[in-house]
Amino acid sequence: MDKKKRPRNLREALKGKLSKKEMGHLITSFDSLGNIAVIQVSKELEKRTGVIGKALLSLNKQFETVCMVSDKHKGLFRVQPVKVIAGKRNKKALYKENGCSFLIHLGKVFFSPRLGTERQRISKLIKENEVIGAFFAGVGPFPIVFARLTGMKKAYAIELNPEAHKGLLHNISLNKCHGRVEAILGDVKKVVPKSLLGKCDRVVMPLPKSGENFLKEAMLALKPKGGIVHFYRFVEREKGAEQPLKEIKEAAKELGFRTKVLRKKKVRSFSASKEQLVIDFWAGKKRKRS
Ligand SMILES: C[S@@+](CC[C@H](N)C(=O)[O-])C[C@H]1O[C@@H](n2cnc3c(N)ncnc32)[C@H](O)[C@@H]1O
Repeated sequence: MDKKKRPRNLREALKGKLSKKEMGHLITSFDSLGNIAVIQVSKELEKRTGVIGKALLSLNKQFETVCMVSDKHKGLFRVQPVKVIAGKRNKKALYKENGCSFLIHLGKVFFSPRLGTERQRISKLIKENEVIGAFFAGVGPFPIVFARLTGMKKAYAIELNPEAHKGLLHNISLNKCHGRVEAILGDVKKVVPKSLLGKCDRVVMPLPKSGENFLKEAMLALKPKGGIVHFYRFVEREKGAEQPLKEIKEAAKELGFRTKVLRKKKVRSFSASKEQLVIDFWAGKKRKRS
């Protein structure tokens, strides 16, 4: 298609194809995952998915497939079901971010391109030779971006979903970071006491729905001199960081650790009443008085 004739946005691509009333129900934002675009379609437009899919396909020559989100993120593995609505019947996306490539099997693993800025932000904080606990690693975006952008020594990438672990192994090869990113299939609750106690300078915890249950494992994974934790958490907008700060304090108290909050930041809006926060904090064992 001639570049000049390509519509500038979804609304323009759908001009004359949806009625004014239908346009009012259109969700115009979508995720671009390289060859696949993923869009949410409102209930009112369920019968118009074909026309919306085709219009989205015409926006970018990279897009070969358009998927629509067919349910919420589900279960322990936080997987979001999707359905192909236009183009090739393929759910394997090849996505590029921060100079890295990721193969992502949509509908089988979690992935969000919306955390790319966070991966970049943390990369700027990582110092030479750091050892990193990449909890809840999924297909590897956090540890692989760290390997590419920083002088870190090693990241231990722990993931429970066997499909995501398989994708992580593939993405480690794709980005040539064997040895620097080690994929571990298992539950953070079991892996940390077995093989990660006291090894890390930094721990990243991108599990915003229930990460609070793993704060003790994050602290125990830090080196005896202490280290930094990046804790993601969904919160009620009006309560802000109150709850996660309480959870950090409680976990530290149980372990006899000291903590210092370094930064609290909104990552993104989640719903009308909820948002995702990240809290960066330092934690280390309390010194015994002599
Ligand atoms: C919100 S996703 C984040 C994935 C990845 N870090 C990303 O940003 O794309 C959380 C991941 O944690 C994994 N997970 C959930 N509970 C876990 C546990 N107890 N131990 C290890 N991984 C777990 C899920 O399977 C899922 O892949």
